[in-house]
Amino acid sequence: MDYAATTPVDPRVLEAMKPYFLKKYGNSMSLHAWGREAKEALENSRETVASLMNADQEEVIFLGSGTEGSNMVLKGTAFANRKKGKHIIVSSIEHHCVLESARWLERQGFEITYLPVDKYGLVDLNALENAIKKDTILVSVMHANNEIGTIEPVEEIGKLCREKGIYFYSDAAQSYGKIPVDVEKMNVDLLMVDAHKIYGPKGTGALFIRKGTKIEPLLHGGGHEFGLRSSTVNVASIVGFAKAVEIQKKEMNSDANKQTKFRDRLIKEILKIEDSHLNGHPTKRLPNNAHFWFAYIEGESLITQLDMHGIAASTGSACSSESLEPSHVLLAIGLKPQEAHGSLRLTTGKYTTKKDVDYVLEILPKAVKRLREISPFKGGWE
Ligand SMILES: Cc1ncc(COP(=O)(O)O)c(C=O)c1O
Repeated sequence: MDYAATTPVDPRVLEAMKPYFLKKYGNSMSLHAWGREAKEALENSRETVASLMNADQEEVIFLGSGTEGSNMVLKGTAFANRKKGKHIIVSSIEHHCVLESARWLERQGFEITYLPVDKYGLVDLNALENAIKKDTILVSVMHANNEIGTIEPVEEIGKLCREKGIYFYSDAAQSYGKIPVDVEKMNVDLLMVDAHKIYGPKGTGALFIRKGTKIEPLLHGGGHEFGLRSSTVNVASIVGFAKAVEIQKKEMNSDANKQTKFRDRLIKEILKIEDSHLNGHPTKRLPNNAHFWFAYIEGESLITQLDMHGIAASTGSACSSESLEPSHVLLAIGLKPQEAHGSLRLTTGKYTTKKDVDYVLEILPKAVKRLREISPFKGGWE
């Protein structure tokens, strides 16, 4: 129930990767046969990853993670375009890799606007238009939120940015391979995708950079990846990523149907629990995400209770789950801190079965009931 945090590697992905550790281990920059073999695998993988987002092969570079992609976009566009302007707009529900990059840029003298969202987590286009200034260089709004699953109106956002001549970046770590991602339809200039969210290896991502976009690299060195990301290329993981993409291309639609059924059943049944609420948009949401808050309980204790029964779930993003601060996403959609603390994210995946969903529906109401019985908030917050 925690596939948004990460996914297992598909056995077919592992098989595709194996030869690139043991026999085909060449450096893609080497001129000999081993190097050429690695280079060919790299370029074939690039074509596969690009094709599932309707991009040209030359517009995609591979990265060491999704986090690296957001860091590169924020810092790289800021520094490459700082003569044009120093203002950047990011949605207030972006992943920490965007928000922390933005905060770092603030300390370097850039100006950041944190764009509010409505109660479903949707960015308001009017608010965006009002936030745009003469010196705005970049807008960053994620495709689908990793906590509450809301899918943003990226096409309209991208259209507005294009009209104003501002770069538009979208973090598609949670959507790529699960729902359609098309860089043309979305009107994005920059888009990040991530292998470990779709049954590929961890530590592997890719960035779409539209031709002509001015961006500085984070890593300088031997000039790999069109001079935009120096470092010996991790061919084995990239081959794995491409295999995962190839599989998702074929299985994405049927998988999304299956996840939607699980999601809708979870939502329908869990909302029968007294004082339970759905977070995120009722329909514009990822097929595998169901997110709730329960009054009078503490989400961390709920996770522990579920864990004791062998159920892996999360309160919000795995990256910040060690922090005791309420989630910035839940606060941004208007929840009070005590409400945000009672949250639960259930995210299914391709190995989830009906039996798993039944089991969660059996255990969860009991766990909520038990926690409320011992809750100091029982009968009210005051
Ligand atoms: C929306 C989103 N962006 C970025 C990331 C960071 O990606 P990575 O773990 O590959 O650094 C994640 C997940 O971890 C995510 O869900």
